[in-house]
Amino acid sequence: MTDPTLGAYPNSRMRRNRRSDAVRRLVAENKVSVDDFIWPLFVVDGTNVRLPVESMPGVDRLSVDLIVDAAKQAQDLGIPAIAIFPFTDPSKKTPDGSEALNPNNLVCSSVRAVKAAAPDMLTVCDVALDPYTTHGHDGLLDGDEILNDETVDVLVKQALVQAEAGCDTIAPSDMMDGRVGAIRAALDEHHLDHTRILAYAAKYASVFFNPFRDAVGSVKALQGDKRTYQMDPANTNEALREVAKDIHEGADMVMVKPGMPYLDIIRQVKNEFGVPTFAYHVSGEYSMIKSAGLHGWLDAEAAMMEAMVCFKRAGADGILTYAAKEIALKLNGAQ
Ligand code: PBG
Repeated sequence: MTDPTLGAYPNSRMRRNRRSDAVRRLVAENKVSVDDFIWPLFVVDGTNVRLPVESMPGVDRLSVDLIVDAAKQAQDLGIPAIAIFPFTDPSKKTPDGSEALNPNNLVCSSVRAVKAAAPDMLTVCDVALDPYTTHGHDGLLDGDEILNDETVDVLVKQALVQAEAGCDTIAPSDMMDGRVGAIRAALDEHHLDHTRILAYAAKYASVFFNPFRDAVGSVKALQGDKRTYQMDPANTNEALREVAKDIHEGADMVMVKPGMPYLDIIRQVKNEFGVPTFAYHVSGEYSMIKSAGLHGWLDAEAAMMEAMVCFKRAGADGILTYAAKEIALKLNGAQ
């Protein structure tokens, strides 16, 4: 009897369509393009400063002038967007993270400089207090409680300062309840209705963020962990509710973070909502591949490409990855 799962061609040979590069390209169901990338960059004080991030091989913190150079390179390569994260000088950190509201802080200065030099480059700015607080948390702390509504009030101000500096894509990454709606309302009130919101909607409390915290200088500062506001890696239904809420509150795009261990969540979000969905291939995922490559344990370049096409297969419309530039160079070279 014919196995119904094999359909009308029980004797077909699957390998026929894998015989050559040409046929493999012809039948490929998913493709990675430079159009898919958001390239995260770290900004630091000074001029012509390039400060390597020890735990992220190949990634440097850059002063604003070099951020502008990177943005121009990205534009030449066809990468549509950069995301900017600050390494805040410890002397500027406070318990309430007030440097986040300084219109001349590193993020706002970078956005202004990038927009002046490369007006078409999209700029994504994180809304969260962790690069600015002495305790390393994303919100205001009262004892060991992260205050929700009080934090949202500050995040709204942070978002406005960034949007007024020219940021076109505001990305709340703090995981406070109700922040997307509050930010949307404030942007609209201030006639910033073109400013879009990319919500870190399903963001899990993950140890894969550690190298990022090294890069922004919050790793030593962080007291405790972020499990009272970021999600439990065990949960799926909760992720769908988080995404539903953020869309309802006005998010234009949503994100799942981390990426590689959470491909099932990306697929479900894409199927359920059909909104532009981004995967964040986070610092720890990047560093694992890079460091294994440096040891000669795998081909890091090929591993990066494999990770990227898997994000596309899972349903991601785009990917934030520290490898965006090297992948774009490769894709452009391949054309
Ligand atoms: C800040 C923020 C984090 C990341 C992006 N925005 C760290 C955290 O939540 O602790 C992680 C990015 C990465 O690991 O690459 N809220």
